[in-house]
Amino acid sequence: MNDLTVKILNRLSSGNDFLSGESLCHEFGITRSAVWKHIGLLRAEGYQIDAVTGRGYHLSALTGRPVEAEVRPFLTGERFGKKIIYHPVTGSTNIQAKALAGEGAPEGSVVVADSQNGGRGRMGRIWVSPPGVNLYFSLILRPEVPSIRVPQLTLLVAVAIHRALCVLSPALLPMIKWPNDLLVKGKKLCGVLCEMQSEPEMTHFVVVGIGINVNQTKMPPEIEERATSLFLESGQFFSRPELLAFVLNHLEPLYNEWLLHDDLGFILPYLEKYSLLQSKEVSIDQRNRNLSGTVVGIARGGELKLLCADGQTILVSSGEAHLRKEIS
Ligand code: BTN
Repeated sequence: MNDLTVKILNRLSSGNDFLSGESLCHEFGITRSAVWKHIGLLRAEGYQIDAVTGRGYHLSALTGRPVEAEVRPFLTGERFGKKIIYHPVTGSTNIQAKALAGEGAPEGSVVVADSQNGGRGRMGRIWVSPPGVNLYFSLILRPEVPSIRVPQLTLLVAVAIHRALCVLSPALLPMIKWPNDLLVKGKKLCGVLCEMQSEPEMTHFVVVGIGINVNQTKMPPEIEERATSLFLESGQFFSRPELLAFVLNHLEPLYNEWLLHDDLGFILPYLEKYSLLQSKEVSIDQRNRNLSGTVVGIARGGELKLLCADGQTILVSSGEAHLRKEIS
């Protein structure tokens, strides 16, 4: 969609009244036939626009796709989401966002896709990304911090998504599973994949990839035991544009605060309150070793605090945690 079409869409969605063709001509400095052409383009995109002689145009239905024009009305921040690049289908929004960041795209730019055919998760896994139902997006950040701090962003993002979900669906009660998942009743609803380009003392950019299962009514058999969606948990459909904006709205102030601090200390109480692993016995798969113990908290640097059988508490900075059994 070109800029002017988006502006006309924004104008149509800014009120509930009919807008005359003449007022649109006037406002945008274009002819009647140009207005008609833009209305046609919007209809081709799936927008329902009524045209009534003597009254003008009225937008009666949005598409529900997470396109800039539909996300923008919900945004409340200063920078996040100011630029949203939408793809009906792409390989991976993280790959697209990394390319854009490399070309100098500003902090807060978002790449979003209706579907991905190469969606990626942590540890080389695939992220199932069917069209029309879920959210797949990547946010470009340029934090001026040493790269050692960047892994903290994954937990920060998890908190922002958690808060957004608690506002939109208060009965959901999601839990944060260190370091990057949100789960409901033990099933995964959302994952975060942060990728960065950096030198030790300097972070060039970070791409924060977020996948949220929103309106999917059935999970593929191979993941239905461990994955769920907002619809499956609540019986309700959610607006993807609104949810995307809510996540950005919650993340931006948290991120600004994190930049002012040295660590995650300011959100530790929240993280520990909603941590799925808190006080649980876990095993942690790392590349070359396997750890086990009881989770006794999250450290200010974002590491998992693990009390091992020998009585020592160690800080675990990476790996995949598995619950062993509940401690009564
Ligand atoms: C995980 O839980 O392993 C992380 C999943 C991250 C998936 C998102 S979807 C948007 C972005 N693009 C990708 O290819 N991956 C992330």
